[in-house]
Amino acid sequence: MKIFKAKDYKDMSRKAANIISAQIIMKPGCVLGLATGSSPIGTYQQLIEWYEKGDLDFAEVKSVNLDEYKGLSRDNDQSYYYFMNHNLFKHVNINLDNTYIPDGTAKDSAAECDRYNKVIQSLGGVDLQLLGLGHNGHIGFNEPGQAFEKETHLVELAESTIEANSRLFENPDDVPRYAYTMGIKNIMQARKIVVIISGEEKAEIVKEAFFGPVTPQVPASILQMHNDVTIICDEAALSKV
Ligand code: GLP
Repeated sequence: MKIFKAKDYKDMSRKAANIISAQIIMKPGCVLGLATGSSPIGTYQQLIEWYEKGDLDFAEVKSVNLDEYKGLSRDNDQSYYYFMNHNLFKHVNINLDNTYIPDGTAKDSAAECDRYNKVIQSLGGVDLQLLGLGHNGHIGFNEPGQAFEKETHLVELAESTIEANSRLFENPDDVPRYAYTMGIKNIMQARKIVVIISGEEKAEIVKEAFFGPVTPQVPASILQMHNDVTIICDEAALSKV
């Protein structure tokens, strides 16, 4: 596990974008595991900037997203499909047919999870997985207490996650209660993992996740066992270590 200290959010974003662009240059048809939330927006902006300068080509890149709210359709502006389109896909030359996100509107949840696991498998696995960190240590939507060996599944969101994510919804009651997420097993199978964390409100969970015991109570702690993890924190996120 390598931990890099970035000066601030912008510096963190640039460092993460550097690793992702190196991956794309080394393997133009790579499979990127992508994340949503506030943490990766700056990374995506940096990638877009380099694409616009002609330094990056997404033509052959494939992507699989970590998670999606159950019940939200692609055109709902709170869906992760919408987020990805808005914050990255529509600004670069990625082929939308090569981008995958769980279908929030699927009627049969078990079949949707199964389909998504098969998508990841058929792509040959994830080359580089980008992750943010939830306040309670969740990665994707793998909430505390879930088994490490799960693949894509439907989760009931923790109250603290609903509360944290309600800032993005007009009405807190609109936050979906369930979401699809890749499981810890899918995440751990990625060949390389990059975690980006910023802000003082994440400092305590950074300490627990990466400097404390490995436990399902802190899902991100399992990343200590992966052999190629790069954690990029800004100074505030590292302030309790
Ligand atoms: C959400 C997402 C996670 C993300 C986390 C942290 O719950 N499902 O993938 O990492 O929130 O979000 P933020 O980066 O906004 O702090």
